[in-house]
This record gives sequence, structure tokens and C-alpha cells, in this order.
Amino acid sequence: MAASTLSVMCGIVAYVGARPAKDVVLEGLRRLEYRGYDSAGIAVLDGEEVELRRKAGPLANLEELLAVSPLPSSGTGLGHTRWATHGAPTDDNAHPHLDCKNALAVIHNGVIENHATLRAQLLEAGHRFRSETDTEVVAHLLEDAFGQSGDLAQAMRDVCRMIDGSFSLVAVHRDAPGVVVGARRNSPLVVGVGDGEMFVASDVAAFISATRDALELGQDQVVCVTPSGAEVTTFDGTVVNGRRYHVDWDISAAEKGGYDYFMLKEIAEQPDAVAATLLGRLTHEGTLALDETRLDPRLLRDVDKIVVVACGSAYHAGLIAKYAIEHWAGLPCEVELASEFRYRDPILDKQSLVIAISQSGETLDTLMAVQHAKEMGARVLAICNVNGSTIPRASDAVLYTRAGPEIGVAATKSFVTQLVAVYLVALYLGQVRGTKFGDEVAEVVHELAATPEKVAQVLQTMEPVREIARQLASAPTVLFLGRHVGYPVALEGALKLKELAYMHAEGFAAGELKHGPIALIERGVPVVIVMPPPTGRAVLHSKLLANMQEVRARGAYTIVIAEEGDTAVEPYADELVRVPRVATLLQPIVSVIPLQVFASELAVARGNNVDRPRNLAKSVTVE
Ligand code: AGP
Repeated sequence: MAASTLSVMCGIVAYVGARPAKDVVLEGLRRLEYRGYDSAGIAVLDGEEVELRRKAGPLANLEELLAVSPLPSSGTGLGHTRWATHGAPTDDNAHPHLDCKNALAVIHNGVIENHATLRAQLLEAGHRFRSETDTEVVAHLLEDAFGQSGDLAQAMRDVCRMIDGSFSLVAVHRDAPGVVVGARRNSPLVVGVGDGEMFVASDVAAFISATRDALELGQDQVVCVTPSGAEVTTFDGTVVNGRRYHVDWDISAAEKGGYDYFMLKEIAEQPDAVAATLLGRLTHEGTLALDETRLDPRLLRDVDKIVVVACGSAYHAGLIAKYAIEHWAGLPCEVELASEFRYRDPILDKQSLVIAISQSGETLDTLMAVQHAKEMGARVLAICNVNGSTIPRASDAVLYTRAGPEIGVAATKSFVTQLVAVYLVALYLGQVRGTKFGDEVAEVVHELAATPEKVAQVLQTMEPVREIARQLASAPTVLFLGRHVGYPVALEGALKLKELAYMHAEGFAAGELKHGPIALIERGVPVVIVMPPPTGRAVLHSKLLANMQEVRARGAYTIVIAEEGDTAVEPYADELVRVPRVATLLQPIVSVIPLQVFASELAVARGNNVDRPRNLAKSVTVE
């Protein structure tokens, strides 16, 4: 898949009515600033042309541009804040995007998976492109479709049937004044129903200062709005009745999607974040398509050692990377705390690949480790969630996670998407180096493709976990046990509890219990046990079952995370939390979620602010 600049978890606002669209849309974009973004733009209809203003950087840059180059006061327009996940956040890559004749503008959230094929066809047909975004493909497709039907809603339906991937799209056309058309597949889109005016937005926070009446848009639906109302159809044109509802959130709640904290919203966003991180990187044949990372396959064939450097939760993702890389790529893989890495004398050379994992891309310990690795002649691949941040820019290659902005200090969706990213890299290394046969890679790729649904499944069964957390709110400590990839999950569960509930917690490799930590076990001590699947590496399961009996025999209160159908654990589990069946190496994607929910609920029960835990910053830019 050709490199493209993808836009995920962006802010969308469109307006049609009697007020100047430029003002209403700008206000709506301000309401969406909390989502994080790296560029913004607005387009309005003005008779003969579409007038467009867009700027990289904060909304203030766009406002400065609008002050010196104001938009006309038309009543039809749209705007966008872009959270780019690939490709520099430049003015040209900012949305909205126009067609060849500047007759229409379109904004987009999501990924057009078949954009490369469509772009080639459009170039062949004579279209001229001004950006490398996948979104601009839609502008030119709409240009042709509108030329045929003369109807913007029909043109949108025709285009939606041509594109693959996840998207929410909104467009306006100079020959359709007073009309805004939107479409959605997977990505959110909602209609605000005003009095003689209408809104189309990525979330209600954009318009609830003007109206709390909303119209839900369903999967694979198109909406055509005018100041007097809205018509919803399926992609094949069947008229449907969208669900009307009243938004009773205040602004703060709206920004959190109705959750009390951003962290809880971000835990709930994990299925979409995992899906977005996978999009376009797995082929239907079960191979990996990571050419966007600029990782030269020839270089990867020469690699003889991998070192992962990271901090905190990212370090725990690195520990899981070790199991994946050694299994699928057959390469030795060290994992080092970034803050320790450069104070030892790591043995690195040009055949070493250093993988720096960082959500923010600004963690100074990790950045210093990257610079040290480069000085030693190693190649560096960054796995990062923030487009264009310092660590990717200091690296030779980057694989972006597409979790979208993570506002809660505690890593949740960024951690789970880091797991997806390290699995992609490990499988890609195996594929490029021929370490694993294509059929095994393909099998895992298909399992990986199913993980968004598995994550969603876990999230639906978390109420018992919240109840357990509330019962343990006054516990003095909680211990976490795991083996194999369950051990880093145990470490991550303990970290979540420390940073959110301000309580002692510790994760152990279960095999280490007999070497000391079992002395900590006494009556009532809560012990969380992350069980591996009973199939696959069955020895891991039987040994951890024995550990569970050892701690239970000494009075521990066992909280067991186990795969559905694993009956062997039942006699020893005081609390049993089920997760869906997944391949052994992929299990952390589902088994970490109950631990995130457990920690956040216990912290809330203790009266803590889980978004801003004491003493912590979202990005640690000091050493
Ligand atoms: C984890 O919940 C913390 N937010 C913290 O440990 C974090 O993972 C660590 O500071 C690394 O941050 P980074 O991923 O932005 O580099």
C-alpha cells in the first residue's frame, strides 16, 4: 500500500443555515480542540467558487489567516481539525480538500484503504492532485460523480460504494447551495437539528451550544441536510428514518463522550483504535504492508539484533515485543528501560535495529536513547502515536499507532495499539526475512484482524470487574502474576494501579514467587492472575495453575483473568474474569483491558481524578 497521509480521530463540523458558516464552523472547531490535532481548515460556498482557508498547527494559525484573508459570509460551509497519523501535517495536507475545479470541498475522518488504486485511475483520467492525502481522492471521485448525477447526495452514495476502509465524510458543492451531505462507515458522524439551521459533526460537542436535538447516522448511511431538515438514506439510496434524540450532556461531558473521565472514554475507544492501527497494513492474502514505515526490507534482512527502548507502559509493550519478535522473526531481542539504556555500554552497530516505543514521541529518556543508538551506528524505528513529534523525527523510520489523541495521563488505548504495532513489526520482520512460512504469518494476520471485535467483546463484560475494584478500594496492596506475555501484562496492571489509585501494587513473573515474593502472601491479600490460554503453550497454563493454588493455599484472594472455557481455574478463583479466546502471543490485547478498568474504577472509588493523577505528566520531557 503506497504511503499516504491518513487522518484518524479528526474533528468534523459542517453548517447550513442563516448565520455565517465561517463563524459557526470555527466555533465548532474550537469545541473540538480537546481532541488534539495538528492542522485545521474551513471552506464555505461563495457563488461561483468554494472559498478555502487551511493551516498546519494550532487553530490560532487558522484564525490569524482568517483575520488577514477573511472568508465570505455564506450560510453553507464545513471545517476540520486533523490528527494526522502519517505524513507531515502541512497546509496542503490539511482538510478540506477540493476537486480540480474548486467546485466542491470534502472533509474526512478515517482511512480510505483503496486510495492508491483510485488515485491512479483518477490521474489516468486527467485529475490533478495537490496533496498526498487519501482524502483528496474522494474530492475527485465526487467531482466525477456529481458531473454525472448533478445531485450531491447521489454523488456521495455513488462514491461510498467505490471506497473501502473506515470513513466519515462531509461535502459541499457550489452548484448545491444550502446543502451539506455527509456519509459514515465506522467513524462517528452526527446531525445537529437546529431551528432553521443544521449541523453535521464528528461529535455533539461541536454543536450543543446551538442545539441539543440530534439525529443519529447509522452504519453505511448518507445524510443530506438543508436549513429545513435532513434526509437519511443507505448507500443504495433507500430512505431510512434516523433516530432522533436529545443530548443532555454539558460541554465537559460532551467532550468526554458522556464519560466522567477522558480515560474511561479512551478505554472504550480501544476497538476503534486497534482497528485504525491495523487498517491498510494487513492484506487480504494475510501478508503485511508496512512500506509506509520507510523500513527498507533489504536493511531488515541484514539486521542481526533488536533492542527495544521505552519507558513506563511503552516499556511493557516492549517486553511483549520481545516474545513476538523472537518467535516470529527469529531475532535476538533485548528490551531496555530508556533511562538505563545509555548509561550502560550497549553493543550496537549498523546491523542493530533499535525500536523506540513512545506514545507522545517526546519522552526525553527515550529520545536520549534514540540519539545514543544513532551515535552507535544503529538504525532506529519509532513506534509513536503523535505525528511529527520529536522521536519519530529523530528516527530512521516510523510506524504510527492510530489511537488518536490520548488525553488521560494513564496509557490505555495507546498501550493496546503499541501492542498491535509491535505485532505488525514482528510479523513483518518474519515475512521479510522468511523466518516464518507465509501460512503461519497469514494465520496470525487473520487472528490480528479479528482483535477489534475481541476488544469490544471484553468491554461489554466489565461491570463485575468494576464491582471487584470497588470492594478492594481500601486494600493496602494488590499483587499481579503472569507468565510469558502475561508477565508484562501483570507489570502493566500494577503500574495502572500505582499511578491511578496511589496504592502499592507489584507485578511478578509467577515463576519468581518461590524465590521470595511468596512471603508477601497472607490471608486476604488480593492477587490478580493473568492466565495464558489452556491450549497453545499448555505448560504455561499448568504452571500458573500451580502458582494459583500456592497463593490460594496461603490465604490470597485470587482474581483470575482467564480465557472463556478455561474450567481448570474455577476451583481456585475467588473472582473469575473471562476474556475471549485469542492466540497466545496476542492475548495481552484482551487481558490488559480488565486491568485498566480495575485500576480506573478503584481509583475513582478512592476519589482520585483518573485523568490527572498526582505527580504525573502525560509526557515526561525531563530526564
Ligand atoms: C503509563 O500509564 C504512563 N502514562 C507512563 O508510564 C508512560 O507510559 C511513559 O511515561 C512513556 O510515555 P511515552 O509512551 O509517551 O513515551
